[in-house]
Amino acid sequence: MRIHGSTIFIPGATSGIGLALAVALQQKGATVVVGGRRTGRLEQIAAEHGLGTVAIDTTDPASIAAAAEQVTAEHPDLDVLVTMAGIMRTEDWTTSGFAESATETVTTNLLGPIRLVDAFIDHLRTRPHATIMTVSSGLAFAPLKVTPTYNATKAAIHMLSESIRLQLSGTGVEVLELEPPSVATDLMPGQKESPFAMPLDAFVSEVVELVESHPDATEIQVENVKFLRYGEARGDYDQVVATLNRLDPHGS
Ligand SMILES: NC(=O)c1ccc[n+]([C@@H]2O[C@H](COP(=O)([O-])OP(=O)(O)OC[C@H]3O[C@@H](n4cnc5c(N)ncnc54)[C@H](OP(=O)(O)O)[C@@H]3O)[C@@H](O)[C@H]2O)c1
Repeated sequence: MRIHGSTIFIPGATSGIGLALAVALQQKGATVVVGGRRTGRLEQIAAEHGLGTVAIDTTDPASIAAAAEQVTAEHPDLDVLVTMAGIMRTEDWTTSGFAESATETVTTNLLGPIRLVDAFIDHLRTRPHATIMTVSSGLAFAPLKVTPTYNATKAAIHMLSESIRLQLSGTGVEVLELEPPSVATDLMPGQKESPFAMPLDAFVSEVVELVESHPDATEIQVENVKFLRYGEARGDYDQVVATLNRLDPHGS
């Protein structure tokens, strides 16, 4: 993925990783439009950072369609879509009552990116070179016990990224999967304070450095995620799962 000179839309960037990444990419010479539901935050972000903003609820197909129309009309040179919006909920699957949370999680974390790609793919195909950046997690590769549906949606995003990359090979659209480890954001209560969470600035700096130094990468893995990402390949998966669930209530 090329940063300098590109035009990037990040739905899910009113806070956390999305916002920090948007600001860092802008500093590297990209034009960045951020999206989210909190319109007050969008106004504040436009004023503070001079980023473009679009109100969008990625659980609502009509909102996605309207945002896609607005972003591509205002930025016909849009060539990067980052499917950042996500939620993370704890669930107890040992008794009933988790279906509502699970449904919300699938709708946001899996259907959201699917609908976003559907809304933007025809436009991205018109560009000489374009990127879809998906956002999975270290938890796509090792499960955090307390967040079953979250883990499952992120594993699905990993496989979706692998699959659509095959379909889009030979077009000008590349698929780049960002695989964050635990990062200090407001994704879950207490996550920002977790001693296991990577500081947000350090995470985003490493991501930008990796994107710049590996423009043809298919996955962005900071050092901290490799413990989770490669447990199965290394042969220490059981130990990784045990350590993750013993140590980190906010593994993300
Ligand atoms: N932090 C971690 O440890 C970690 C690790 C692995 C992966 N990730 C992934 O990174 C992404 C960003 O998370 P974060 O840690 O930065 O958390 P965050 O600060 O809570 O940010 C989540 C963002 O998603 C947006 N969002 C949520 N639901 C949305 C919806 N229905 N429509 C539009 N936007 C929506 C929020 O904006 P509004 O509330 O304004 O809509 C917010 O901007 C998520 O996909 C998460 O799964 C995070």
